[in-house]
Amino acid sequence: MTVRDYSRYLTPETLAEEEAAWERQGDQPMHAALVTAALPHPAATVVEWGCGTGRVAAKLPDEVIYHGVDANPLCLALARERRPSGIFHPRDLRGAAGLVPDADLICAFAVFKHFAWEEWPWLCLQFLSVAPRAIFSQAIGPLEDTGDSFVHQFVPLKTVHAVIKAAGHRVSHAAPPRPGDPEWIFQSERCG
Ligand SMILES: C[S@@+](CC[C@H](N)C(=O)[O-])C[C@H]1O[C@@H](n2cnc3c(N)ncnc32)[C@H](O)[C@@H]1O
Repeated sequence: MTVRDYSRYLTPETLAEEEAAWERQGDQPMHAALVTAALPHPAATVVEWGCGTGRVAAKLPDEVIYHGVDANPLCLALARERRPSGIFHPRDLRGAAGLVPDADLICAFAVFKHFAWEEWPWLCLQFLSVAPRAIFSQAIGPLEDTGDSFVHQFVPLKTVHAVIKAAGHRVSHAAPPRPGDPEWIFQSERCG
């Protein structure tokens, strides 16, 4: 099933649970640290797709010009509290590419798994068109069934590589954050 309305995706309770899981896994600091390390300069413009509650936004350096896009208003309200200087875009990611500024870096964590297989290549191409550097997590194997009704889609590794290449990017990093994790971290840069 493809979920089209993400405005009811998370409740305060599920948000709290999700963040606790991130904390346990050690992902809380890891994603923001990856983005910070990849900044081309301290005042770079960063766009985050599916920014959720601002978990990553909160930990980026103050100088960063940060834009967060998410369809869930509850998430965005929390993200705004966590990063008051951030610019937040309440909208569906389908079609968001033309509506956010060109950025130095674009990132997305735990987002692409929510898109159905048919939508994923187009969405990933749109995502990579926004910036010359990208960091995103992408499931390349089956994810644990969380019992909710949302898509938990994976994409074969060779397909991820093919779409990154088709977007005119080259992969600079592709690995799981920990052995056996099906949701890998990909980093790419525009060629030429
Ligand atoms: C698992 S949460 C991850 C949140 C955040 N990236 C993080 O790592 O903490 C997935 C996020 O993607 C957003 N999302 C999923 N599909 C979306 C869509 N079609 N348009 C906009 N946001 C979407 C959800 O609202 C949610 O905030």
